[in-house]
Amino acid sequence: MIPSTRKQPLPVGVTFLVVLAVALHPSFSSDVTATYSPPYPPSPPERGDYNITKNGTSCLMTHMGLQLNITYFSRTQIKAIQEIVNLRPNMTKHSGSCEADRATLKLSEENTNLTFIFSLNSTTNMYHLSGLELSANLSDMAQPLIVINSSLDYLRGTLGHSYMCRKEQTFYVGQNFSLNTFQLQVQPFGVTGDQFGAAEECDLDEDNMLIPIIVGTALAGLVFVVLLAYLIGRKRSHAGYQTI
Ligand SMILES: *[C@@H]1O[C@H](CO)[C@@H](O)[C@H](O)[C@H]1NC(C)=O
Ligand SMILES: *[C@@H]1O[C@H](CO)[C@@H](O)[C@H](O)[C@H]1NC(C)=O
Ligand SMILES: *[C@@H]1O[C@H](CO)[C@@H](O)[C@H](O)[C@H]1NC(C)=O
Ligand SMILES: *[C@@H]1O[C@H](CO)[C@@H](O)[C@H](O)[C@H]1NC(C)=O
Ligand SMILES: *[C@@H]1O[C@H](CO)[C@@H](O)[C@H](O)[C@H]1NC(C)=O
Ligand SMILES: *[C@@H]1O[C@H](CO)[C@@H](O)[C@H](O)[C@H]1NC(C)=O
Ligand SMILES: *[C@@H]1O[C@H](CO)[C@@H](O)[C@H](O)[C@H]1NC(C)=O
Ligand SMILES: *[C@@H]1O[C@H](CO)[C@@H](O)[C@H](O)[C@H]1NC(C)=O
Ligand SMILES: *[C@@H]1O[C@H](CO)[C@@H](O)[C@H](O)[C@H]1NC(C)=O
Repeated sequence: MIPSTRKQPLPVGVTFLVVLAVALHPSFSSDVTATYSPPYPPSPPERGDYNITKNGTSCLMTHMGLQLNITYFSRTQIKAIQEIVNLRPNMTKHSGSCEADRATLKLSEENTNLTFIFSLNSTTNMYHLSGLELSANLSDMAQPLIVINSSLDYLRGTLGHSYMCRKEQTFYVGQNFSLNTFQLQVQPFGVTGDQFGAAEECDLDEDNMLIPIIVGTALAGLVFVVLLAYLIGRKRSHAGYQTI
């Protein structure tokens, strides 16, 4: 009887650790694969540099990969279809404007115009993406797709800083259009010296770094607790020997 109680604490603790590690592992590995190979038909879009200059210096800077998720009525299939279209930077022309509290960026591909409208709140010194306008006339479209939403609140940043998000983000614009962004860095206001200001990272990126830290700390704590329990258990059963 006594020897068996004496050996028990370590196997129980180890089993618990193994179960925990196995339980944690799948969520970890699926997270990693999702980050590096999105399960979409097209590959992630290439990143483009689209800067607007005013009087010779940059006033709006962006560096991002863009993917359109559109729904339209197909002429050939005679039904509504959903399509994923990557914007190709080397086929995309850009133009835009910088004003005190409003900045625009218009990207034009062969059959597609996509316009970003950024607004600055001069009271709070915060900016955000307030509008997106898409106008597309792909050859298979029964009629051109036009989606305009002027009441968006995305990409919120502080004047003088850039907004950055390495992970994919999805911006809902309307029933037939949402925009996926990849490896994005933007600064629509307060650009100085043709350089991005210090980056404010999106929550997605911060969570990404926090999870391994939390899990690591928790595991280290667990190993310590199990070791402590084992040592205490050993000491107790030693004490048990002496009293008997
Ligand atoms: C935009 O600005 C960045 C940073 O200065 C620079 O690396 C990039 O080449 C510029 N792109 C264009 C198209 O001017
Ligand atoms: C444009 O730049 C020139 C020289 O860099 C400067 O003298 C002029 O005031 C600027 N104009 C505006 C409207 O900022
Ligand atoms: C495109 O949007 C639809 C819903 O409108 C969604 O179900 C689908 O997952 C989206 N696809 C991508 C690749 O974002
Ligand atoms: C979305 O597309 C469908 C199919 O082309 C169309 O019937 C519908 O009116 C569109 N919705 C909006 C809000 O434009
Ligand atoms: C655009 O880039 C793609 C891939 O990087 C390349 O295959 C294509 O030839 C380029 N087109 C032009 C017009 O430069
Ligand atoms: C700026 O932000 C403040 C506080 O959120 C808000 O009350 C005000 O209406 C905003 N101004 C504009 C022009 O959006
Ligand atoms: C894109 O904008 C240009 C210039 O404003 C215009 O000529 C063209 O018709 C537009 N394309 C679409 C698909 O709306
Ligand atoms: C859309 O493209 C078709 C050809 O693909 C053209 O006949 C039509 O005029 C275009 N519509 C608009 C509104 O630009
Ligand atoms: C515009 O976007 C907002 C935020 O995504 C959404 O709640 C709203 O329904 C959109 N408006 C239209 C007309 O689709």
